[in-house]
Amino acid sequence: MRYDRSRLLFAVVFAMALLLEGCSSETTLQQPLPNKTVIEQAQQANDIYPPARPILMGFSQLGSESDWRRANTASIIDSAEEAGIELLFENAEQSQEKQVEALRSFIDKQVDVIALAPVVHSGWEVVLKEAKDAGIPVIISDRSVDVSDSSLFVTHIGSDFYEEGRKAGKYLLDKMSNEAGKVEIVELRGTEGSSPSIQRGQGFEDTLKDNERFHMLRSESANFTFEQGKETMRVFLREHGDDIRVLFSHNDDMALGAIEAIEEFGLKPGVDIFIISVDGTRKAFEKLAEGKINCVVECNPLLGPNIMQAVQELIAGRTLPKRIFPSESVFTQQTAEREVDQRKY
Ligand code: AHR
Repeated sequence: MRYDRSRLLFAVVFAMALLLEGCSSETTLQQPLPNKTVIEQAQQANDIYPPARPILMGFSQLGSESDWRRANTASIIDSAEEAGIELLFENAEQSQEKQVEALRSFIDKQVDVIALAPVVHSGWEVVLKEAKDAGIPVIISDRSVDVSDSSLFVTHIGSDFYEEGRKAGKYLLDKMSNEAGKVEIVELRGTEGSSPSIQRGQGFEDTLKDNERFHMLRSESANFTFEQGKETMRVFLREHGDDIRVLFSHNDDMALGAIEAIEEFGLKPGVDIFIISVDGTRKAFEKLAEGKINCVVECNPLLGPNIMQAVQELIAGRTLPKRIFPSESVFTQQTAEREVDQRKY
């Protein structure tokens, strides 16, 4: 009798939470998801949740190429510990093959849930189908996967990279509205085939394409790293020198490398060459405050709490929104000094 009543209460609580959330399949996590309370109520109401043992989660991280990635990894490890979730963590160091191997090892170990931060956009159908056939739900973290069957993952928690590219383009349009003549742009793209590189590039291009003054002089991948950003910027400067007016860098690490190359070349970053970057690391904020970067479009790496909450809800039987976005801003030199001490990464 007690069991039946508690099951009923459990169902009512979840139904109320779903109603509160409405029919949207997208969520922006500015505040904690409403259902933390749902889980607590469910815990009091029945003896199904929490499970008798800790939740076991396999996480395949794509690498450690940037400060953003290191902050993302720390956030996941710390939040798993806080949530009492047992974590099997594998770092693939930019290899899709290693990520596939990691996923297969998680399936063999019969983990409760898998989270994947995919290095590239395509090529995931087969292994995700293997996870689905084994009955293991998959959460996509940070970068997206290009699959025709969206039931291969339960939710994707991460930024809107296309929108980030658009924000960068809009900022440039606004800032250069009074500048006469052609505006020559160079672009440092991220890892080839990765969703942030594809989508940031596309968002930026789409925003500027109707304005003939803006011209993309060079665009190369520098793999999201400081060293390659510096080296590629050296090449751009050797070949185009003073013609370059704007640098759009797909992340802060590459922008910081490029700043060193620009100074070596004898130009002033932020003045002679206008710099827009993406991420929002503390180091980039310092350069923003010094006037060496003009604008930073934020990409939030602190996804750990959102992922752990999603995992707990999943295990408690709740349906998750298909897309969950962290909240993000755009920062300029005017806001940098005020914000720099608040940066957590
Ligand atoms: O996928 C997110 C991107 O990957 C970040 O912008 C970049 O810094 C990272 O390495």
